[in-house]
Amino acid sequence: MRVLFIGDVFSTPGLNVTKSYLAEVRDDFDFIIVNGENVAGGFGVTRKHFEAFLDAGADVVTLGNHTWDAQDAYALLEASPRLIRPLNYPPGAPGLGYTTLEARTGERVTVVQAMGRIFLPALDCPFRALDALLETHPQTPVIVDFHAEATSEKKAMGEHLAGRVAAVIGTHTHVQTADELVKRGTAYITDVGMTGVQDSAIGMRFDEVVYRFTTGLPRRYKPADAPGTVCAVALTLSGASATRIERVQWRAPEAD
Ligand SMILES: [Fe+2]
Repeated sequence: MRVLFIGDVFSTPGLNVTKSYLAEVRDDFDFIIVNGENVAGGFGVTRKHFEAFLDAGADVVTLGNHTWDAQDAYALLEASPRLIRPLNYPPGAPGLGYTTLEARTGERVTVVQAMGRIFLPALDCPFRALDALLETHPQTPVIVDFHAEATSEKKAMGEHLAGRVAAVIGTHTHVQTADELVKRGTAYITDVGMTGVQDSAIGMRFDEVVYRFTTGLPRRYKPADAPGTVCAVALTLSGASATRIERVQWRAPEAD
């Protein structure tokens, strides 16, 4: 089975390039996952954006630390098994932390998201939350979106889950890393990268970000506006394991 995981789609340039890319490749994949937590100007997913992802070919949209920024998220999470938020929110949080759906091969795939705790909200332990899920979960390929800031925490999660899931894909830091590998049947990358304007402050215009760093004063961020690049990984799965992970960076030809 071929699975595509598209990294954090940032604002309109990210959404536009995601649509262009998926129009070309969606039939090459059996299952498509998109991290969409930055699509609404950097802050969450609205109903309009969520529907745009599904129309473009996404099977599942994952979130992260911006899950609750867009008001629509509460209702969308309750209504759709195709939108998931971090599993390790305390019990009672709206929506699902994982979902099991059918791929175009007829096989079932589980997608789960967990969030790290270094420089992010102090949620329940993501390691133990995933252990608990895997203990009870039926034998499907499991693809983990680990949304975390610290490379050490992501690397540790990759080791913790190696041999038990099909893939651990790091998200949130927005710069694609070059450390992809398959270990004990588990595909891993520290960060899949951001889908959006790469020459930016991880999606935002430099002006306001540099102003804030150099003055210590507040100023509202604005999303960068230029042609975007897709950052993704393509996974090849065999049963519940991965056999291959390939990094993807793609721009629309007319954007060059
Ligand atoms: Fe994030």
